Amino acid sequence: MDTSKLILKPGLEGIPVTQSSICDIDGQKGHLLYRGYQIEELAQKSSFLETAFLLIWGELPTTSELRNFEAEVQMHRRLSFRVRDMMKCFPASGHPMDALQSSAASLGLFYSRRAIDDPKYVYNAVIRLIAKIPTMIAAFQLIRKGHDPIQPRDDLSYSSNFLYMLTEKEQDPLAAKVFDKCLILHAEHSLNASTFSARVTASTLTDPYAVVASAVGTLAGPLHGGANEDVIAMLDEIKLPENAKSFIKDSILTKRKIMGFGHREYKVKDPRAMILQQLAEELFDRFGKDEMYEVAKQLEEEAIPLLGAKGIFPNVDYYSGLVYRKLGIPRDLFTPIFAISRVAGWLAHWREQLGANRIFRPSQIYTGSKPRSWVPLDER
Ligand code: SDX
Repeated sequence: MDTSKLILKPGLEGIPVTQSSICDIDGQKGHLLYRGYQIEELAQKSSFLETAFLLIWGELPTTSELRNFEAEVQMHRRLSFRVRDMMKCFPASGHPMDALQSSAASLGLFYSRRAIDDPKYVYNAVIRLIAKIPTMIAAFQLIRKGHDPIQPRDDLSYSSNFLYMLTEKEQDPLAAKVFDKCLILHAEHSLNASTFSARVTASTLTDPYAVVASAVGTLAGPLHGGANEDVIAMLDEIKLPENAKSFIKDSILTKRKIMGFGHREYKVKDPRAMILQQLAEELFDRFGKDEMYEVAKQLEEEAIPLLGAKGIFPNVDYYSGLVYRKLGIPRDLFTPIFAISRVAGWLAHWREQLGANRIFRPSQIYTGSKPRSWVPLDER
């Protein structure tokens, strides 16, 4: 192939690789729409399960559709004892994202029909993954503490139940409401790295559990979903608001990335960061302030004059960790929580990929050796 005409685009920046009707982003204006609905309206008026239904099937559910979806998810929250016993063999020191990736992939062993052309199989896979991922994360949290995982409670909503399974006690309704809004905000974001990973895996027609396991592995990286953990570590390092200015200047000098800042699409403040900041303040008003929030606000203030001109502003990961911290969630569970939410987007893209599939196989520009012959060992 004549590669002289090929134009290399590292990271596929700006290269459309599919058509999609799921999510639209205007990075210059800071607009984010799920199936045409603005994120601000969904965060204010919808629930995570209603938003998941919208993303996956393309329309807001009717009352009976939503109640049926909620009931089906509730019925499938439990894990086989085999999955729980498998998780008990994981090292307690392991990262919860690795535990989640292994457990999500293991579901393929239990539901191995791989009948992705059967709408009932597809529907059941959607229900099982949305229902079981929170239970897996909560189970690993209790197991690594040396506790037995607790069963889901059918009388609790999706978000209340997750917080209950995670903390072994029923949480304040405000905590569950704020958590559910966080799930809405993280559910979908067009062709981000983990969703692209999901679509590439889906294009080989493998099972949905392998698709989600691929995406979980991709989300774990610190440049992607893993950033929400690193933001807290960074704010911890800065300690006081008065240290923010020197931290930013040093970071720019040493080319150190400010975690929770910057985005391939957004060249203004991420609209999700704006809403997450409001949610954090709602929690602080009710449950007491977090000094780390003052550091975060000061760092943002100091960063804008220095990074704003380059279109580098807070992204979704910048304030999300402060919300989860206030909810008493351990730092290394922040990215698994991102996965609880983003599985809705991954499944929407899985279905869309199957609807008009062509296996992903991009090209390359070869820069290796010219053809050459093998050399015997004693002549090398
Ligand atoms: C998520 O894609 C999605 O939609 C992802 C996501 C989703 O919902 O799925 O929104 C979730 O992953 C949010 C991003 C979380 N990651 C971080 O917060 C990690 C820190 N951010 C950066 O690593 C970076 O901003 C990325 C990875 C998010 C985006 O990187 P790009 O688009 O590849 O940009 P780049 O690395 O090529 O940087 C362009 C310039 C560089 O400067 P120059 O070499 O041109 O002088 O901007 C600078 C970079 O150094 N830059 C930063 C910076 N991010 C970019 N400088 C300081 N701090 C940063 N955070």
